[in-house]
Amino acid sequence: MACRAIPPLATWTVRSPSTAKGKCDGVIGVGGGSPLDVAKAVALMATHSGSIFEYDDALDGWQKVRADVPPVITVPTTAGTGSEVGRSTVITNTEIEKKVVIFSPHLMPKFAVIDPELAVGLPPAVTAATGMDALTHNVEAFLATGYHPMCDGIALEGIRQCSLYLRRAVENGQDLEARAGMAMASMMGAVAFQKGLGATHSLAHPLSAVCHLHHGLANGILVARVMEWNADVSRDRLARIGMVVGGHGTDAELARGAVRFVRELAAVIGIPQSLGAAGVEVSQVDHLADLAAEDSCHRSNPKPCTRNDFKALYSAAL
Ligand SMILES: [Fe+2]
Repeated sequence: MACRAIPPLATWTVRSPSTAKGKCDGVIGVGGGSPLDVAKAVALMATHSGSIFEYDDALDGWQKVRADVPPVITVPTTAGTGSEVGRSTVITNTEIEKKVVIFSPHLMPKFAVIDPELAVGLPPAVTAATGMDALTHNVEAFLATGYHPMCDGIALEGIRQCSLYLRRAVENGQDLEARAGMAMASMMGAVAFQKGLGATHSLAHPLSAVCHLHHGLANGILVARVMEWNADVSRDRLARIGMVVGGHGTDAELARGAVRFVRELAAVIGIPQSLGAAGVEVSQVDHLADLAAEDSCHRSNPKPCTRNDFKALYSAAL
């Protein structure tokens, strides 16, 4: 895929004490979502003091992030997280088993190198899990509360890209058209979820922090269930998703078709059908539900979520 030349880093030279000491002009992140997030975290802490967890978005930490964050360049080798074009970094606080979101416009990468050839060696299972993250971003953004027709349009096209290319990318990693489509879906999801995410991500974050499940895998197991759970308040929007993935019929039929499409896609690309199959145990549900309720993503879910709702959703998914 063609991309324009990267401007010389010197044009972004930062002369903060930390970066000047290391004679560094910026940070380049190469890899999946975690390495890209680490790159942003390193850039933040190059010019900011204290613990990174002081910048937790749940504590309104974004207000402490200044504009002197060194420039970050991202080179994604997976397609799912969208971190390559996103304004946040997610860091796990292992002491309290919690994923912490640090958000600021100043964390936005200055340049992203999107090359589908970098993903051709990605194993099918990781392609599937990361792809389900991209699909979940687009689905949750489209269903999220709030008025943002531009994000809605991007999210619907992101869903369509996943419907065309995710299975192909899993089945043939060398399929560059499919890899390119998923690279687009990844970026579109991250742009769209500036509108908000939903309950799937609040359920998924504790599964990674506590049970060490891959983030995309956790989303992939849960997203169809959460779509179904939201259906009584989101039928119109689910119906529009149903149309985008090729469905026909009444709104109710299209809405059911949207859920069925996501469930069947997950199954065909090898996503486990239950949390139990992914190693989660019943004894962990109470703790997971506590953490899910504390997570901020469900604030924009179309239906209010209580701790008991999360407990019921985890239990049903087991
Ligand atoms: Fe995600």
